[in-house]
Amino acid sequence: MPEAAVVTVNLAKHYKYLKAVDGISFEVEENEIFGFLGPNGAGKTTTIKCITTLTRPSSGKIEVFGANVVQNPDKVRQSIGYVPQSLSLVNDVSGYENLLFSAKLYGVQGSVRKERIERMLELLGMKDRANDVVRKYSGGMMRRLEIGTALVHQPRLLVLDEPTIGLDPQGRRVVWELLRRLVKEFGITVFLTTHDMSEADELCQRIAIINHGKIVAIGTPAELKHGVGGDIVVLETKQNPETAAKILEKEQGIQISTVGENSLSVIVESAERYVPAIIGSLSSNRIQVEAIFAQKPTLDDVFLKYAGSRMEAEEVGGDWRQIKQVRRAFRKMG
Ligand SMILES: Nc1ncnc2c1ncn2[C@@H]1O[C@H](COP(=O)(O)OP(=O)(O)OP(=O)(O)O)[C@@H](O)[C@H]1O
Ligand SMILES: [Mg+2]
Repeated sequence: MPEAAVVTVNLAKHYKYLKAVDGISFEVEENEIFGFLGPNGAGKTTTIKCITTLTRPSSGKIEVFGANVVQNPDKVRQSIGYVPQSLSLVNDVSGYENLLFSAKLYGVQGSVRKERIERMLELLGMKDRANDVVRKYSGGMMRRLEIGTALVHQPRLLVLDEPTIGLDPQGRRVVWELLRRLVKEFGITVFLTTHDMSEADELCQRIAIINHGKIVAIGTPAELKHGVGGDIVVLETKQNPETAAKILEKEQGIQISTVGENSLSVIVESAERYVPAIIGSLSSNRIQVEAIFAQKPTLDDVFLKYAGSRMEAEEVGGDWRQIKQVRRAFRKMG
């Protein structure tokens, strides 16, 4: 059994009346890529802040490689590299200087600093651009450099908060490749957050889905999709899909998944077996089906099953940060 990189037991973080993280328990195994998937406001960053010792949990326990975040924060910090949600680079100096700054900050000894940074630049594929100022880098290069700055002290655990947000598909792939290499070649453990289902699906060995501060499902992407329990059948109809849904929900073995403007999707144990019954039942109620197709469940369906809705952000009115931003903007307007 590999050692657990992170053990979290009943972790909660409350802000006044808001339960940002509401009693979650999970383990990140050493040398895996573990994904924390959830919509805006789900509690992902708050969980990360607790793990990285940036904020104190209201209750519960977290250990990072056996060290408790509250009792032994220095030890925890030494073993973690952290890439925050918003860019953390110094823009008007070079990539090299950013790495050097980070190495000094993390207390990397002077005698090994230069060599460490050279190796990092090689790993990041940025040797030829090392002396350019960061503001001239592409978004993808900035993200890679940021990951580099979190690695100069050779942590065992790399924690990244939405590492690919704002990147194009090519930029995302480059970051994924880098993370995979870190795990495979350097034995690092990766904990990342994302609200991108396909990213979680492709990159992570295991995923926890978080919504409103609670973990609603946890497992490998395959296990989670299997847990949806069958196939998804999507029907297109020009008539009202709500009516079609009402008819189908009375049938045994058919579970309504989503109802759209011109379409409807249902979950059945086996598409092959249920499609004739679906068409039969609708046509006997004079509902014409324009198209029908079956697909295997995606993580989106997993989220829908366990969280009870599609993955959507919390309401704007409930987010204190947005309220603050709006207030600030008003004040500036005088
Ligand atoms: N310092 C704070 N004080 C009060 N409320 C906070 C604070 N930090 C976060 N929150 C609230 O806690 C909840 C969870 O926020 P968090 O930043 O953890 O979400 P998230 O999953 O990271 O979302 P996003 O995808 O938008 O980054 C939100 O409702 C947020 O407004
Ligand atoms: Mg966040």
